[in-house]
Parts: sequence; structure tokens; C-alpha cells
Amino acid sequence: MAELIDGKQISKNIKLEVKDKVAALNKEGIDVTLAVILVGQDPASCVYVNNKKKACEFTGIKSLSYELPASTTEEELLLLIDKLNKDEKCDGILVQLPLPDGINEDKVIKAISPDKDVDGFHPESVGRLSIGERGFVSCTPAGVIQLLKRSGVNIDGSRAVVIGRSNIVGKPMSMLLLRENATVTVCHSHTKNIKEICKEADILVVAIGKPKMIDDSYVKPGATVIDVGIHRTGEGNKLCGDCDFDSVEKVAGKITPVPGGVGPMTIAMLMENTYEASLLHNGR
Ligand code: GUN
Repeated sequence: MAELIDGKQISKNIKLEVKDKVAALNKEGIDVTLAVILVGQDPASCVYVNNKKKACEFTGIKSLSYELPASTTEEELLLLIDKLNKDEKCDGILVQLPLPDGINEDKVIKAISPDKDVDGFHPESVGRLSIGERGFVSCTPAGVIQLLKRSGVNIDGSRAVVIGRSNIVGKPMSMLLLRENATVTVCHSHTKNIKEICKEADILVVAIGKPKMIDDSYVKPGATVIDVGIHRTGEGNKLCGDCDFDSVEKVAGKITPVPGGVGPMTIAMLMENTYEASLLHNGR
């Protein structure tokens, strides 16, 4: 039976560390502030944004909340971002995605100053990650690295396989594992022999977006399996991941549950990124 990687506890520990670091800055008279922008009332986005604001309260980060109607135009949103880019009191800017139809997400992401891009989605942040420069890293893959490190999983020299090549998870995940000296393979919908490739992995990160697609036949005995997926199943509205947990846990060495694995890490890393943004703006 695989050992569970407790994302809830690890996320809590990171938030407690951020809380201490923010308190130390406060003592020097420095505040840490995150602007959270929500356009429209997508129910899932409302939940995410509320959780982000709660995490700010927990860690002592000030949040500036902008809840804009779905009728907001792209121009109005870009004006707000411009104002926040210039606002010295604002360290990080988070625009919750998806945005309503009629607003170009790429344009909005590119409008956020790379110095305040705590989501790590700006092309400059992505470029910095790929050449190993200091910059913001997308929160979910950054959280996966913390899960691995804090559970004692050795990344250096390991064979890592990432399934999925999205801009938010798969691609930055592969860059981060490479930065940690893993030998990395990225699989996707056009990959041939995907099972054989996955079976070579010491670390298997699954971010496909298909419920329970990966079972024990994809997993090398003793491997660490990180499940980034989250889906509502038909059965009693229960949550499941991209892995068939009951099957995979029989062969894996370590595994993240859904819920309680990768999910809680995203917000913890957003808090860490916001703290880092404040260091940057204060010349540290
Ligand atoms: N929507 C779903 N996940 C995310 C995220 O990590 N950041 C933002 N801004 N929007 C999201």
C-alpha cells in the first residue's frame, strides 16, 4: 500500500511559514498586499477567490478585492490592471480565470507587470523559468515540487514523467523537474507507448484532465504518483482525480489523494509568491 502524501498538512505548514515571514516584514514596517480580481460570478471561481482571500487573512497578507460585473469590458479591466501595476502598495495581482467571453485572457495576462505576476502566467515569467532566472512560477507545479521535497522524495537524477502539456501545469512542471535535475519526459494525447513510458517513471505527475484514466498498469512498483486532476464523479458528487486511486495505491510507493493532495498546495504557493513579490519590491 502506498504512503499518502498529505497536501493539506504540507500546505498548512507552508502557510504558517509565510505567516511568520510576513510578520517579520510587518515588524520592519513593510506590508504585503495582494490584489484579487474576479470578473463575473462563475461559481467555482467565486469559491477559489474566497479561499484565496481567506488564505491572505491567515498569513497576514492584505487583500484588495475587486469583484467586477460580468459586463466589464476588456478596456476597463486593463485600466484597473494598469492602475494596480503603478500602485506601490500592491505587491501581487491575481486575475481569476476563466474570464467572461469578450475579454482576451492572453492580453490580460500580458498586461500584468511581471514584477507582480504572482500566478506566473506572464510570458516573461515563463521565459525566466525556462532559463533558470529568478521569477514567479505557476502555483500548482511549484506546489508539486514542495510536495515531493517535503515528503522526502529524491528528484535529483530520477526519471520523471509528466502526462499533460498545458501552459499552467504540464509545461512549467517539466521545467521545474528539469531544474531539480530529473530526467524528464512529457507525454500527451499524441504520445505512442504511453504506458511503457510511464512505467519507467520514478516520479509520475498526472495532469490530463480525464477522471480515473491512470491505473496500476501505468505505474512502476514503488514510484511516486502525483495526481493533479480534480473531477466531480456521478457517484454522490464525490471528488476524484486523473488516477484510479484504489488501483494505483496498490503499486505506488507514495501517492497524493484527491481531495487533499495537490489542490491545497496551489493557494499556499500563491501566498509564498506574494511574499516573494514583496521582497522584490523592497529591494531584497
Ligand atoms: N483558475 C483556475 N486556476 C487558476 C489559477 O491558478 N490562477 C488563476 N488566476 N485562475 C485560475
